Formats: sequence, C-alpha cells, structure tokens
Amino acid sequence: MASYEPILLRNRGVEGSRTLKVYESRGGYQAVRKALKMTPEAVVEEVKKANLRGRGGAGFPAGMKWSFLPKDRKVTYLCVNGDESEPPTFSNRVLMEHDPHQLIEGVIIAAYAVQAQVAYIYLRVEFHEPFHILQRAVDEAYAKGYLGRKVFGSDFSVDVYVHRGAGAYVCGEETGLIESLEGKRGWPRIKPPFPAIEGLFRKPTIVNNVETLCNVPHIIERGASWFTGVGPSHSTGPKLFCVSGPVKRPGCYEWSMDITVKELIEDPRFGGGMRDGKKVKCVLPGGISMGALSASELHMKMDFEDPRKFGLLGLGTAAAVVLDESIDIRIVLRNLARFYAMESCGQCTQCREGTSWMHKIAERIARGAGRLEDLDLILQTARNMGMMPGLSICGLPDGATYPIETVVKKFRGELEERIRAQFPEKTEVSLAVVG
Ligand SMILES: Cc1cc2nc3c(=O)[nH]c(=O)nc-3n(C[C@H](O)[C@H](O)[C@H](O)COP(=O)(O)O)c2cc1C
Ligand code: SF4
Repeated sequence: MASYEPILLRNRGVEGSRTLKVYESRGGYQAVRKALKMTPEAVVEEVKKANLRGRGGAGFPAGMKWSFLPKDRKVTYLCVNGDESEPPTFSNRVLMEHDPHQLIEGVIIAAYAVQAQVAYIYLRVEFHEPFHILQRAVDEAYAKGYLGRKVFGSDFSVDVYVHRGAGAYVCGEETGLIESLEGKRGWPRIKPPFPAIEGLFRKPTIVNNVETLCNVPHIIERGASWFTGVGPSHSTGPKLFCVSGPVKRPGCYEWSMDITVKELIEDPRFGGGMRDGKKVKCVLPGGISMGALSASELHMKMDFEDPRKFGLLGLGTAAAVVLDESIDIRIVLRNLARFYAMESCGQCTQCREGTSWMHKIAERIARGAGRLEDLDLILQTARNMGMMPGLSICGLPDGATYPIETVVKKFRGELEERIRAQFPEKTEVSLAVVG
C-alpha cells in the first residue's frame, strides 16, 4: 500500500489538540479566512468540484445538496449530524473529541456557503465527553470573535449551538433529527419536501454529517483538485474507517478510499490481523446496515461503488465489524434482527411489523426451534418493506433488509446445518434467566 498523510486525524495525539490555541498554531482557521474572502457561491462550487460525498451513510454529494436551497430564502439552518447511531461506528466521536475546532471551522465555512444564520450540532445523548469538549471549543471560538456577530471581522454572522438528543437510532435520520431538535419525538418525516426546502422549523435546512463537514476546511485550503487526487475518482478525499471485533488493533483509522477490507483487518497500521490466530468468518463493513461479507469477499474496496458489487447497500459509515470463526451465525442473525425491531419507530406498518417478524423468526432459529422454510420466510419479509419498494418513510427498513438478506444468503449452508441439528445457542440459558 502506498503511503498516506493523515488530514482529518492530523491533530489526534497532539497535546492540547482540543484547544483553539493549538489548533491555530497548526494551521487551523486559515481556511475559513480564505473562504470568507470568496463569494458563498464560489465556496459551494469548490465543494462541488471536489465531489465531496456525504460521510453519514448515503454518500450524497455535499455541494449538490447545498445548491438545492431555494434562491429566495430568508432563513436557513445548518444541522450537523453527530448522532452517530450506527453500531459500531465511532469516527465522529473521535473527530469531536480530538479536534473539535476542525469541526467548528467546517461548520462556519458550510454555514457561510449556504448563508445559514444558525447551526445546530446534534449529538446522541450518550456523547457526554464530546458534548463538553465541543461546548468548550464553541465558547472559545465565541470569545475570539470566530462565532457570533461578524465572524473574523467579516459581514457574516452565525450562531452555533451544541444540542443533545434523547437517544434513538432514528434520531440520526435527518428528518428524525430535525423533529427531535424541535423538541418533539424523533419521528422521521415524509419526504418530499426534503429539508433543503422545508426542514427545521419548516425553513430551508442543510443536514450534514460531522465527518463531511470536517473535510470542508481542507478542500478550501488545498483546493478541489487536491481533494479529487486522493482516492478513486468516484470516492474522493480523506476517509475515516473504524475496525472492531477480535482484531489486534481495533480503532479508528484514516486512509483514502482505495483500501480493501482485508487491508483494514490485516495491515499492521490498521487492525493488525486477527487475535489468537483466529480466522475471519464474516465482516459487516459499513456499520451493520449495509450487509455482510463472507471470508472470501475481503478484497472489497471501502469506497462508494465497490460494496454494491458484493450485494451490499453501500459504504455506509465505513465501520467494519469483524466476526471470527467461533461465532454462531444464528446469533449474528438474531442480534441484527433484534436491533431493527427495537429501533423501528413504528410509524410505518411494513417497517414496524416486518422488523418485528424478522426478529421473531431469527429468535426462533437462534433458540433451536427454527424450520428450514424460515430462511425463505425471513428473506421474503425483508424484501417486502423499505423505501426501495416505496413502503416506508425512512431508510431504516432498507438498512434492516441488507444485513438479514446477506447473512441468510451468504451463510445459508451453516444456518441450514444448525437448523437441522436443532441445538440451541450457548447463551440461551442465561437469556432465559434474564428474560
Ligand atoms: C435510520 C437512519 C439512521 C441514520 N443515522 C445517521 C447518523 O447517526 N449520522 C449521520 O450522519 N447520518 C445518519 N443517517 C443519514 C442521514 O439521514 C443523512 O443522510 C445524513 O446525516 C446526511 O449527511 P451527509 O450528506 O453529510 O452524509 C441515518 C439515516 C437513517 C435512515
Ligand atoms: S420506516 Fe420505520 S423507522 Fe422509518 S419512519 Fe417508518 S416506522 Fe419509523
């Protein structure tokens, strides 16, 4: 693998990296000064040219999203999605904890580009540390005149608030997040209208992920052509990858998007290989919602295009969960199904009932009471819900379908074998005691 210069994580491990003083001494807040001398349209154009695709899961181009805002709008909001609700994703947390001013600089530039008067940084309720770190950084930026009225002595003003939700997976979905910010139950809204037209408080709103916005200062400072030179042409720019599970070095790493899942697991600069000489059985490479890879598919590239070739929904949050050969695949199936059944907000019948049926079937299989026909039944249930067939308000059921479908299809042999053998998973006794 070629070498790579860390950009997003360049300040991680530097003493005092959370302070404005250290951030600025390492070149921080230069990009925003440059951006404020450009027109907002020129900033949007530069981000478009960079082809910065959203890092929150869907990979939608940020510059294009920004240009969907109505031209005649008076009020605009920017919402920063720091809910990071996708299991086992923690890259946003690393960015906020180690380099909060990088995010704040990205927020100011994005707010200027879309002419937002107010930006909300929305965090999941469990993010106590990031909340306090970010709040301290926001206070520092206000004290220096980098936030508030006429930032950096320009004519542009923006207020930034750090807000914590009450904790639900759907609060990471952009319209669920908006409802939650408005103080309501975090129920996703029917789209259209999309937030760019009618979002927070029914005003034009841009929602972007933390990592997406952390890339923006670097695009402005180094230029779009630098950004498009990092990684493949369809998946440009620096990217964070999480690795968890029984690898020697679980963690959050930065590289370009030409890295493969195998390199992420085995390279000594990343996962460093499997612990105790165990073999990989299965990897969920994009958070859990994108689907599963078998051990023969680890050559998949962690970019925005390759995952589709392996039957996955997309790159997702680029957080790989590695499962080793000792794992009973029935438990994987059951745990995945249980997560979506618990997190479905219940507004849409297909999602509410479908996730719950999938959970019941997976639970039955895990308890050793499954039937062979359950495998087709669970596949049929998975296919009949979601935004893709046009039956739901948000993408949660699509995110539920892919892991279930790929686990059943790619590990069918083992599932059938275990169903035939009809022996319960080892944890059943303790579960029965708890339940
Ligand atoms: C159920 C569900 C949960 C989501 N959770 C998150 C999340 O925690 N963080 C995030 O940035 N995007 C999440 N998204 C995607 C957001 O709806 C939205 O696409 C994203 O915040 C846009 O930012 P980006 O364009 O910068 O990626 C979720 C989507 C769904 C359907
Ligand atoms: S699809 Fe599911 S999670 Fe999304 S709004 Fe409908 S019921 Fe809620």
